Amino acid sequence: MKPKVYVTRRIPEAGLNMVLEACQAKVWEGELPPPREVLMQEVRQVEGLLSLLTDKIDAELMGAAPQLRVISNYAVGLDNIDIPAATERGILVGHTPGVLTDTVADHTWALLTAVARRIVEGADYVRAGQWKTWGPLLLLGQDIYQRTLGLVGLGRIGSEVAKRARGFRMRILYSDVVRREDLEKELGLIYTDLETVLRESDFVSVHTPLLPETRKLINAERLRLMKPTAILINAARGPIVDTQALYEALRDGIIGGAGLDVTDPEPLPADHPLFKLPNCVVVPHIASASVSTRDEMARMAARNLLAGLRGELPPNCVNPEALPKLRQRIAK
Ligand code: DGY
Repeated sequence: MKPKVYVTRRIPEAGLNMVLEACQAKVWEGELPPPREVLMQEVRQVEGLLSLLTDKIDAELMGAAPQLRVISNYAVGLDNIDIPAATERGILVGHTPGVLTDTVADHTWALLTAVARRIVEGADYVRAGQWKTWGPLLLLGQDIYQRTLGLVGLGRIGSEVAKRARGFRMRILYSDVVRREDLEKELGLIYTDLETVLRESDFVSVHTPLLPETRKLINAERLRLMKPTAILINAARGPIVDTQALYEALRDGIIGGAGLDVTDPEPLPADHPLFKLPNCVVVPHIASASVSTRDEMARMAARNLLAGLRGELPPNCVNPEALPKLRQRIAK
């Protein structure tokens, strides 16, 4: 008998076919995430769950899934899953680190460049038929080269963003709970506190995971530390930045601009006042959305799922300590 699994959205075939071949899989075909009551119902019989960052996988859901061996998240971020609750029940949790690092770092730079050089405003201007001639004062933006980049968090993605900044001959500051002296030497980074990063940077890019201590890390008070010309980039998780405070800071000229791949809430309602500000570029959480990266994430998520179903450690498991408990459950 093939194991039963539930896949909460259609993922690229590169990984989906691996799951369909090895499992009795049910796939939610909707464009939007499955409603909570559907998810609660579907997990009752399954041994494996392939979830997305839009699915809330909490203790209540796990409690409704007595056979569940493995949750494989099609994302590197895990803030949608209650990991301690999974570990306590002997459920393995997998995710997709590494494969999306470069793609997200590239996209961070795309956003930074777009806001600094007013690319979206320029494209809208041309499309609206307003382009009449070359203008000496038309859409003046900010230089990036030789300016100061501040990284809030220097994990896998933050360090790749720093590597790309070297090409722009930038001064690079970073703050993090973990100091990386190796990267300081290799890339010429300067370690400092968050307040100094915010005060001294022309561009601030957020790269921390969403944790209780990073929720609303960038709030009104911290935005006020930034230069009036500074640009804030967030391709990490929306709730790390206080949306209302950011809106007010952009509106009132406290900071110069923002590029957001992620928002809080996500999506932002279509009539949100942020969309009226020309100095804010918002895109729909697409930082990892390249064809090859999404294929590789799908393969990785499938491998994690299939290993967990066999009672083995998924190649990218965040709670290996759940394995003994899972094996005890399987042996019963
Ligand atoms: C992740 O993986 O956590 C990104 O936000 C989406 O790819």
